[in-house]
Amino acid sequence: MNKNFWKNIPKPIIGLAPMDGYSDSAFRRICKTVNPNIITVTEFTSADGLHHNRKILKQKLQFHPSEQPVIAQIFGKNEETFITAAKVCEEMGFSGIDINMGCPSKKVVKSEHGVALRKKPDLAAKLVEALATNTHLPISVKTRLGWSNADNLIPFCKRLESAGANMICIHARTYKEPYNVPAQWEHLYELKEHLNIPLLGNGGVTSYSDGINKLNNLDGFLIGQATFGNPWIFDPLERKLSMTEKYDLIIKHAEWLIEHKGEQVGTREIRKHLLAYVKGIPGARQYRSKLVYVNDLNDIKHSLSTICNELECQLQV
Ligand SMILES: Cc1cc2nc3c(=O)[nH]c(=O)nc-3n(C[C@H](O)[C@H](O)[C@H](O)COP(=O)(O)O)c2cc1C
Repeated sequence: MNKNFWKNIPKPIIGLAPMDGYSDSAFRRICKTVNPNIITVTEFTSADGLHHNRKILKQKLQFHPSEQPVIAQIFGKNEETFITAAKVCEEMGFSGIDINMGCPSKKVVKSEHGVALRKKPDLAAKLVEALATNTHLPISVKTRLGWSNADNLIPFCKRLESAGANMICIHARTYKEPYNVPAQWEHLYELKEHLNIPLLGNGGVTSYSDGINKLNNLDGFLIGQATFGNPWIFDPLERKLSMTEKYDLIIKHAEWLIEHKGEQVGTREIRKHLLAYVKGIPGARQYRSKLVYVNDLNDIKHSLSTICNELECQLQV
């Protein structure tokens, strides 16, 4: 994989945002089934963890060959552990490495990882440089507008570009802003005028056409929360599907999650997705109370086909 990956990939670049607890291999494959042209990013994974306990965390980074191009997202603050992590990602066959400089979780910020790096531009640039010079994989950074405003967004990103970043993705909210406040994409359009590397926007995209409308001069966008229960958001034709038409893909999701994580963990983790899949349909509350108790794949199939049948009957009345 060469450093020009982000420059050469067809534009606009459209992808699934990295989301801990959601963008695992099974969900990434599901989104790629809807649109094989999207890119996906893994859940964030600790560079220190990969350095000290490679075996356990490698498991978290597993991906299926059909997911390519898939990008590994790493967080940390230590050059040495980042370099080990990069080697692991190279060995595993990832198409690129993304450095997380946006995570606002208390634990991550307290350890001076994630968005805390926005307050340490020297260290942030050093980490990018360490990866850029020690791996042949392209390096990207995903960060936010800033800590409480976008004042240093342009100098910060230009610094990362000089340090060797090949792409930057900005979640158009500050660290202080929760995930549900409107994203401010105008800062990204201005930033793009100052960069030579591709810039992706992220934050508040509600549909495929909404993402396209927000693009302006940017090279692409990532969608996060709006994919929950709705991988079909990546369908450029924005077809409206019935629950029955969605059935096969939802079952595939359950099968891939169970295949990847085992029956016990896979079944437990599919429940939150099932609740998202039925969100907004008539009688959702009653269905949710059943879906939170599904125990295995047969149970999932049975519950979902019951829901589909009931919805079809309602349509025919
Ligand atoms: C549950 C959840 C987990 C997330 N985990 C990560 C992560 O691991 N790495 C990351 O860079 N961003 C993470 N994010 C942020 C998303 O990638 C994205 O920037 C954010 O949700 C804004 O996009 P949206 O408005 O389309 O959801 C997470 C967001 C959510 C809601």
